Amino acid sequence: MDKLIVHGGSKLTGSINISGSKNASLPILAASLLTDQQVIIERVPDVSDTNYMLQILSALGCEVERYSGTVKITAANIISEAPYEIVRKMRASICVMGPLIARLGRASVSMPGGCVIGDRPIDLHLKGLKAIGAQIDTEGGNMIIEAGSGLKGQHVDLRGKHGPTVLGTDNLMMAAVLAQGTTTIESAACEPEVVDLADFLNSMGAKITGAGTRQITIEGVTSLGGTHHTVIPDRIEAGTFMVAGSMASESGIILNRVRKDQLLGATEKLRESGHLVRFSDCGTSVSVSRGDTAKGCQITTAPHPGFPTDMQAQFTAMFATTPGISIVEDTIFPQRFMHCAELNRMGADIQVDNGRAIIHGVTSLSGAPVMASDLRASAALVLAALTADGVTEINRLYHIDRGYEMIDEKLLQLGANVERQRGSA
Ligand code: EPZ
Repeated sequence: MDKLIVHGGSKLTGSINISGSKNASLPILAASLLTDQQVIIERVPDVSDTNYMLQILSALGCEVERYSGTVKITAANIISEAPYEIVRKMRASICVMGPLIARLGRASVSMPGGCVIGDRPIDLHLKGLKAIGAQIDTEGGNMIIEAGSGLKGQHVDLRGKHGPTVLGTDNLMMAAVLAQGTTTIESAACEPEVVDLADFLNSMGAKITGAGTRQITIEGVTSLGGTHHTVIPDRIEAGTFMVAGSMASESGIILNRVRKDQLLGATEKLRESGHLVRFSDCGTSVSVSRGDTAKGCQITTAPHPGFPTDMQAQFTAMFATTPGISIVEDTIFPQRFMHCAELNRMGADIQVDNGRAIIHGVTSLSGAPVMASDLRASAALVLAALTADGVTEINRLYHIDRGYEMIDEKLLQLGANVERQRGSA
């Protein structure tokens, strides 16, 4: 297993290009199953999660070509059984359910496992698909989904106890595009990645309105065609590097290929914490540097357009050495605090209780061997290591490689003193 060795104390400077969004790419890649025509998708990040999705599509019978960030997919002759050995590796595999049931009238997908950030139910996905006519049974750990008499548009409220569901909204939207009649999704997720999927589907001939609001309307059509689409920038990667600039850059780092309108939550909280965030006029580049009078603040995650749960670990790493007391509450994944124990091993002073972390800023952290646990917790450890005294060894780097494209090369480009050590296994 690879590890990342980080020598703390470097001042970051320079610029990097932010990659395409992992969380937009995954449902868009799955949506290629909805047509037998070729689709071309650009800016798909080369990370293990998108590679898993491409393996699943290949196993389903798709022709897949990939060169640098461009993927060409033709789902001419496909089967309905998604391979367990790949699906079990990535929860987002469940977003092949909607397209398969729409295209073939049948799907067999293994139940996703849990993960370290908390219980990951799919009851809302199943509620949505059942509402438009799917029958769902479980057999040997697989979900067998049938739509014998076809899918019929309905009005469905997808709200769960933790608010809307991103991939649940995606799954129902993808199933509904080929249903008879019109489907309305109430309490829909509004994330930019949902909007990007709707744009992709509409470019294939779907008739979707309201994406980006809590009510999405899908008028069923009989078939979809091919398209050529560029995925939106990865707002969580951008936010992660914005935090890096706030922690470790005096002169400022510049992040290119961003979208200002997708970074409002992170921008607001970095400025509230006293750091400098300046966007270019067109909003596609941002410069971030550490403020002179950093101070702690409070963050409560919420569904978009609220503060993203995928950014709370990174801010916790920043607050660990920010003067004063900060509070981070995650209302979406209340158990998503695996990073705090590791940060405390580096000298942080964080108490976790009942879905929130109370952080007393310390002067500095000390480098140590730490263990990555999930994608964003691992990113938080990298950020903490950048300013820690001494050397930090981050093990199980595969967690980061799931969602950050060439993170070590980007950090080196910004002047960080990091080294990837290739593991044997
Ligand atoms: C997406 O996961 C993202 N993943 C996650 O990012 C992100 O944290 C999450 O949305 C929330 O923003 C991708 O887009 C691939 P949800 P998703 O369904 O869709 C509950 C990362 O770091 N829920 O919006 O699986 C659920 O338990 C990843 O890139 C149900 O109760 O999340 C959670 O509390 C991690 N029943 C809340 O809803 C369901 O059927 C939101 O989950 C589905 C979800």
